[in-house]
Amino acid sequence: MFGIGRGDKTLRIRQATLEDLPRIVDIGAKAFPYIREPQNFFLDRLRNFWVFVAEVDGHVLGFVDVEVKRDEAKIAGIAVDEAERGRGIGSALMSFALEFLKKLGISRVTLLARASNEPAVKMYRKFGFLQGKHIRDDVYEWYKVLR
Ligand SMILES: CC(C)(COP(=O)(O)OP(=O)(O)OC[C@H]1O[C@@H](n2cnc3c(N)ncnc32)[C@H](O)[C@@H]1OP(=O)(O)O)[C@@H](O)C(=O)NCCC(=O)NCCS
Repeated sequence: MFGIGRGDKTLRIRQATLEDLPRIVDIGAKAFPYIREPQNFFLDRLRNFWVFVAEVDGHVLGFVDVEVKRDEAKIAGIAVDEAERGRGIGSALMSFALEFLKKLGISRVTLLARASNEPAVKMYRKFGFLQGKHIRDDVYEWYKVLR
């Protein structure tokens, strides 16, 4: 668990449970409108990935999905409720995910991002991710070595 003060409120990050699925689907379907069956998609993530949610006063406002394979990991998705962006929730989720992976002994973490997704790309740069190989269209892999 992890918390940072936000005025009189506290942002807490914890592992997601099945009860969080409706909020994750709500946030995720809006953030990633190209996902075809968001209910099944995010259920599959909950079952097979590490999923952490950020909540304020019991309200889930964002999530991060992390896939771990041997000593490498992928940030498979990170999203914040549109009305709550720009307040540090995405950064808190990313910090938490990176600390979690460090504790697991993971040495390298990757993610995919569209070059046109400015908020995401700026956040990844802020966390020390470097742009890696071209995947398709304007999608690039980004990577970070964890020490
Ligand atoms: C990317 C996302 C998760 C960031 O969440 P957030 O809570 O708004 O992020 P934060 O408030 O912690 O901001 C983190 C950094 O992101 C960048 N950023 C955030 N919003 C930005 C904006 N509108 N324009 C440019 N940069 C922005 C800044 O570098 C910021 O750091 P700073 O405040 O120190 O300058 C959020 O924009 C989101 O959910 N986007 C839709 C889903 C998505 O595209 N996910 C990534 C897929 S690759």
